[in-house]
Amino acid sequence: MDTMLISKTVNKAINQQIGNELGAFLQYVSIASYFANEGLLELSAFFYKQADEERDHGMRFVRYVVDCGERVEIPAIAAPKNAFTNVVEAVELSLKWETEVTGQINKLVELAVKENDHITQNFLQWFLREQLEETSTMDTLLKVAQRAADNALLVEDFVARHGDKLRARAPRDKEKV
Ligand SMILES: [Fe+2]
Ligand SMILES: [Fe+2]
Repeated sequence: MDTMLISKTVNKAINQQIGNELGAFLQYVSIASYFANEGLLELSAFFYKQADEERDHGMRFVRYVVDCGERVEIPAIAAPKNAFTNVVEAVELSLKWETEVTGQINKLVELAVKENDHITQNFLQWFLREQLEETSTMDTLLKVAQRAADNALLVEDFVARHGDKLRARAPRDKEKV
């Protein structure tokens, strides 16, 4: 029996987002390996972790479609940018990517609202919070990288000392919101 928890249109849009999230995974793996090649191991570790998170985002969408009893169809994923000249360029690309993804998630929410699909709206709330965190993280990292100018070791030092703070610009009480 078709439970029709989500419409064909929502199903299609989420399948596309699986591709976008896995595309982000590839982009962050590429950036992490660039940093590793440059001997910038803190930045490399930071971006490998970001890559893992993008894979997790993709899998959350996969599980959602499967839970809804619908078809997962993963689209073709474009090759990531594989060459960088400095830290700022790589972090700028990451911030641009996160900003685009926020737009994509907002569009998904709009579609769910239009279709009166409360289950998908509820499911997407986690992604909205995640985009706030990831965009803010990349924005802070970009500011640090710009301030460090040509000294990538200063960024390394910052990530080593304050990596955890990158994820929350304002102090949080015990429970992160
Ligand atoms: Fe993501
Ligand atoms: Fe992200």
